[in-house]
Amino acid sequence: MKKTLIVYHSRTGNTRHVAQALARRLDADLDEIRIVQPMGGALGYAACAIEAIAGLTPALRPMRRDPTAYERVVIGTPVWFWNLSSPVRSWLARHRRLRGRVAFFCTMGGSGAQRVFAAMAELLRKQPVATLALTDAQIEAGFDDRLAAFVQSLQTPRRVVRVGSATRGRASKPAGAAA
Ligand SMILES: Cc1cc2nc3c(=O)[nH]c(=O)nc-3n(C[C@H](O)[C@H](O)[C@H](O)COP(=O)(O)O)c2cc1C
Repeated sequence: MKKTLIVYHSRTGNTRHVAQALARRLDADLDEIRIVQPMGGALGYAACAIEAIAGLTPALRPMRRDPTAYERVVIGTPVWFWNLSSPVRSWLARHRRLRGRVAFFCTMGGSGAQRVFAAMAELLRKQPVATLALTDAQIEAGFDDRLAAFVQSLQTPRRVVRVGSATRGRASKPAGAAA
């Protein structure tokens, strides 16, 4: 069985950037979640907003990797209106029976991470072994230390660890719980 798969959606590149940096550290395979009909500009932004708020699940393009072939899957999403991005919602809805360990990361302007992690855990019916929340400013400034802590928590997954802008270090409640 292969070790780690990272799946992510990215509209403007931040989540892709984090996913790629994580893949280099973990020597992991990467797979991008892409929607069938992407839309740019203001119309696309409005579509993202509506889909995220309404909890819609847009059609996805075929994925390249089979997540059931991996020991652990790391799932990355941008925060959209304090919600999970709709393409990642679609992917999670398809993989409710994922067996291996999961971990989550999200990118955001500044808030919504804990709500997003809780929604991801609920869709998968599985708590993540670790979570990482990064703001756009942190991504811009360099996030090596946070990424290293996240990787470390993935490799010692006995206890749930939250790493991110809001909470760092070991958490006393499940990482998917809303803050
Ligand atoms: C439709 C939309 C809604 C957003 N809503 C939020 C939000 O509720 N909270 C937040 O902190 N950032 C929000 N953002 C900012 C993104 O989460 C952030 O810029 C993220 O890094 C984008 O990731 P990407 O470049 O991979 O698409 C939103 C962005 C978009 C496009």
